[in-house]
Amino acid sequence: MNSIYSVGITGMGSYVPEKIVSNDDLSKIMDTSDEWINTRTGIRERRIADKDIATSDLCTEAALKAIKDANIDSKDIDLILIATVTSDMAFPSTACIVQKNIGADNAAAFDISVGCSGFLYGLAIGSNFIATGAYKTVLVIGSEVLSKILDWEDRSTCVLFGDGAGACVLQRCEDGKGILSYDLGADGANGHFLTQPAGGSRMPASHETVEKRLHYVHMDGGEVFKFAVRAMEKASLKALEKANIGLEDIDYLIPHQANIRIIKSSAKRLKVPKEKVYVNLDKYGNMSSASIPIALDEAYHKGLIKKDDTVLLVAFGAGLTWASVVLKWVK
Ligand code: UT7
Repeated sequence: MNSIYSVGITGMGSYVPEKIVSNDDLSKIMDTSDEWINTRTGIRERRIADKDIATSDLCTEAALKAIKDANIDSKDIDLILIATVTSDMAFPSTACIVQKNIGADNAAAFDISVGCSGFLYGLAIGSNFIATGAYKTVLVIGSEVLSKILDWEDRSTCVLFGDGAGACVLQRCEDGKGILSYDLGADGANGHFLTQPAGGSRMPASHETVEKRLHYVHMDGGEVFKFAVRAMEKASLKALEKANIGLEDIDYLIPHQANIRIIKSSAKRLKVPKEKVYVNLDKYGNMSSASIPIALDEAYHKGLIKKDDTVLLVAFGAGLTWASVVLKWVK
């Protein structure tokens, strides 16, 4: 990055709802099976938020943990960025709600809508504010309550997703460490493969949109699958090239957790051995923008990622979008 300051992750935290829903639980309410879900996706169970819980509630829990881990005060935060496609409401932004919840009175706040690539877009945006010297402390959160926008009568989508939140604190770090590079991209021409069609200005909520089930996730899984495998490889190689390092220098690969077959195929194309790939989608399913920060938080708190390790984060998602980040761990 062309920057004045290097920027690293100085605190991490995550939160998932307590309620576990297994594949067997789902097979009792719809025509599916543990065998189908597990062999096609690698998912065994997912967390589902209670009825009265919204995305900002999960964000708040994860944010408080990240703030503690970074050993800062909420008042030190200059900017809150929340990546989500399940904001509490159309406006105000979820970031403004979280700003109030955590008492970050000095922070600017806004949401970013980039689907599952959102947390990595957030790292890129947030780090630039610090790299230029404009801000010192940025809180980046990826959080979703996807269970509220899933069509529980569509077995081809509802079994895939789960709820959760992951947060990190970005601050200046030692020169040459922290975020070394990123690659962001979009293919808007193919955005129709993954949408929530109604509820916006194109198709405002009406009796008809509700009856036609247009407020739920609509996805062409096969098309998204093909895009994912190509995008993950391309984005990874681009970020590595920008950081001027090779795949052999990677200590850990944390890919978006959508489908074990996508993860395995991407790791194989990149020739990253499976011991270096972090996988937790068996426990949580696809949590969209929350998947990568939760996986990163787990890998770090389990001691798998250590100071000075080089980590590659890579995602694809609605938009369609992709994103990758290479970082040298600073904690
Ligand atoms: O974060 C980005 C979000 N999206 C993704 O990452 C999705 C990427 N795509 C995928 O992960 C895969 O395409 C899926 C897991 C969604 C689907 O796997 P697939 O191997 O492409 O299966 P398919 O769509 O070809 O479906 C095969 C069959 C169909 O039956 P027929 O038409 O062959 O008789 C489906 O009706 O499996 C059936 N099916 C199910 N059966 C049992 C679809 N969903 C289910 C289900 N349980 N839950």
